Amino acid sequence: MTLTNPETETCNMHCYGYLVNFLCCGLMLAGLWHLVNHRTYQSAYGRHMGHPPCARTVPARVSWFVQEMPALLVPLLLLLTTHKPSSMGKYLLLGTWCLHYFQRTFVYSLLTRGQPVPVDVMMTAGLVCSVVGFLQGHYLLHCAQFDDGWSADYRFKTGLVLFYIGLAINVHSDYILRNLRKPGEVIYKIPKGGMFEYVSAANYLGEIMEWFGYSIATWSFPGFSFAIFSLCFIGTRAYYHHRYYLEKFKDYPKLRKALIPFIF
Ligand SMILES: NC(=O)c1ccc[n+]([C@@H]2O[C@H](COP(=O)([O-])OP(=O)(O)OC[C@H]3O[C@@H](n4cnc5c(N)ncnc54)[C@H](OP(=O)(O)O)[C@@H]3O)[C@@H](O)[C@H]2O)c1
Repeated sequence: MTLTNPETETCNMHCYGYLVNFLCCGLMLAGLWHLVNHRTYQSAYGRHMGHPPCARTVPARVSWFVQEMPALLVPLLLLLTTHKPSSMGKYLLLGTWCLHYFQRTFVYSLLTRGQPVPVDVMMTAGLVCSVVGFLQGHYLLHCAQFDDGWSADYRFKTGLVLFYIGLAINVHSDYILRNLRKPGEVIYKIPKGGMFEYVSAANYLGEIMEWFGYSIATWSFPGFSFAIFSLCFIGTRAYYHHRYYLEKFKDYPKLRKALIPFIF
């Protein structure tokens, strides 16, 4: 996995290598900052939001739609405004990214039965999605140098397999969570089935697998930095979800872990 080389900028006028590396470092530092400060700071939405919430809120469906949309829209806009011929591998990888965010924007968002989301959380998430959408789209379209053989490379194949297994776990787990509630209900129940038999945050496990798979398939600093960011951000959140279940439900399955089956 290599840093984007700023020296190649002169050969490839459209690749802002310094900006890519800067954003990657920023993402990783933001994730690590969250990891270090997780005891005092958890993003205040869902069960970790105060009651009543101290900020103005918007309905969950609006919030998730608005905040996730840029991660899909920005790469698509970059794609539409790029005229360079490119390799098949690049388009497959960009399609993989867009598939995740299409699902999150148009399926997850519109079906969620979650609680309203504070406006500041929605805006911060929207900013992060805009930045990562730009970062991944710009890197793949303007910086990455995949030859045509990349789609036959074992890293590409292994990474994509990991990504799609993760996507299946993430979507299935979010489906299980959604169906724990009747429309209009705002209570928490013990999730059962699928990967929830092993971990409390099966949806996060799937998401983290997706981004590590994507990181391997792209073999890139932008992919890796987003995987680390996700691991730090939702990994700590998984720990607090697990602790919440243990405190709330006396009959909570004893062998279930927080995020990694049998380990953590
Ligand atoms: N890549 C990243 O960095 C990142 C960051 C954040 C989220 N995500 C992804 O976005 C999706 C949603 O994230 P999230 O943080 O909202 O996940 P979450 O806390 O697990 O909640 C998911 C949904 O299920 C509901 N829910 C959760 N546990 C429940 C239970 N025990 N009983 C009934 N309902 C329950 C929640 O309602 P409430 O809202 O009322 O709690 C929410 O609507 C996930 O797929 C996650 O992987 C990714």
